[in-house]
Amino acid sequence: MLANKTVILGITGSLAAYKAADIASKLTQAGARVEVVMTESATKFITPLTLRSITSRPVVTDMFELASEFSIEHVALAEAADVVVIAPATACVMAKLAAGISDDELTCTVLATEAPVIVAPAMHASMFQNSVTQQNLAKLKARGFTIVGPEYGRLASGKVGLGRLAETDKIIDTIGQVLSQGRDLTSKRIVVTAGGTQEPIDPVRHIGNRSSGKMGYALAEAARNRGAEVKLITAPTSLPEPVGTEVVSVKTAAEMKEAVARAVIQADALIMAAAVADYQPKSVAEAKIKKETPTLTLELIRTPDILTEVKGNFLKVGFAAESQNIVANAKQKLERKQLDLIVANDITDPSSGFGADTNKVTLIDKQGNVEDLPLLTKREVADRILDRVVSLLAKR
Ligand code: CTP
Repeated sequence: MLANKTVILGITGSLAAYKAADIASKLTQAGARVEVVMTESATKFITPLTLRSITSRPVVTDMFELASEFSIEHVALAEAADVVVIAPATACVMAKLAAGISDDELTCTVLATEAPVIVAPAMHASMFQNSVTQQNLAKLKARGFTIVGPEYGRLASGKVGLGRLAETDKIIDTIGQVLSQGRDLTSKRIVVTAGGTQEPIDPVRHIGNRSSGKMGYALAEAARNRGAEVKLITAPTSLPEPVGTEVVSVKTAAEMKEAVARAVIQADALIMAAAVADYQPKSVAEAKIKKETPTLTLELIRTPDILTEVKGNFLKVGFAAESQNIVANAKQKLERKQLDLIVANDITDPSSGFGADTNKVTLIDKQGNVEDLPLLTKREVADRILDRVVSLLAKR
């Protein structure tokens, strides 16, 4: 599994940095090409020479150093990676990664890579348990990073707690698992919609909804990581564009319908995670509506139902945002919209509603099989949906 894989091993400034030598050694022995990137503080705990001797590769320690073949274009390192592993990861590097700060070679590499990222935290227990660190950890999980450890045991301070770097074997196993997750959507063309459409009332106002776009973006990123060619058709969101996907920005349901119709011509699957407005103002005022009357009535007309109207020989996956009779309503939608799979969620549950990083969904297929998933991050939900897409595509 590890043979001929390029593993970027990021080492940050924790006392556990010395254990990275063991990780680098085991990876090298297993046939991986290990490219070590150290933060400046990591070099205070273990020397680059040690890592260079173990891996027989230049070690990157500074963005502006000229010695390494990767030093100028750290993007090259990001592109070469099959997997990026940060072990040990300090609270500081986790905070930087969560915020998208890229002020050294390691954080730049992580920001630029499309490869899966594994983070193995190691720090004092109270730092790990601090709510800021926990929030950063949740952000990294939501972005699809795999977290391994920390473990309970004796810490640098002499105290015992949750903060020890995971055992080397566990980290190596995790790398193997992540690499073997595979690229089971290679050469598949997947169209994903995301966000909530906006239907204009006048030049400054629109009818919108509370969709954050997180579920659709998680699907696009997960499909990309599994090798798919992804087209993401997105209504306005505040999320960054996922690298390595083709992004088409739209505003209204009508624009989304056009973009979907064009995109599905060559697609293997369409996943409609967007919250499409069901109604739009019958006419859009040319000038800003002034508050001249005590009441204002807007006449609304139906928007196109994109999932129902779009035709073609591709797999159709829909979502069902329900607040009651979830499974029964979702089954009806699956039939009415002629879907292969529907993802039902209870929008009244705060852990799965709009804007949350987690989701609790039920998958229902055409055969009527109902699978209740536990509460998961949206990224984990995305992978579970894609597992089903992979098996449904295989049956075609
Ligand atoms: N959808 C669509 N076009 C619309 C409305 C919804 O393609 N005009 C898609 C959504 O992207 C989702 C699925 O249809 O995948 C179900 O959306 P949902 O809002 O749950 O259902 P509606 O069809 O709008 O029905 P209702 O609002 O009555 O529950």
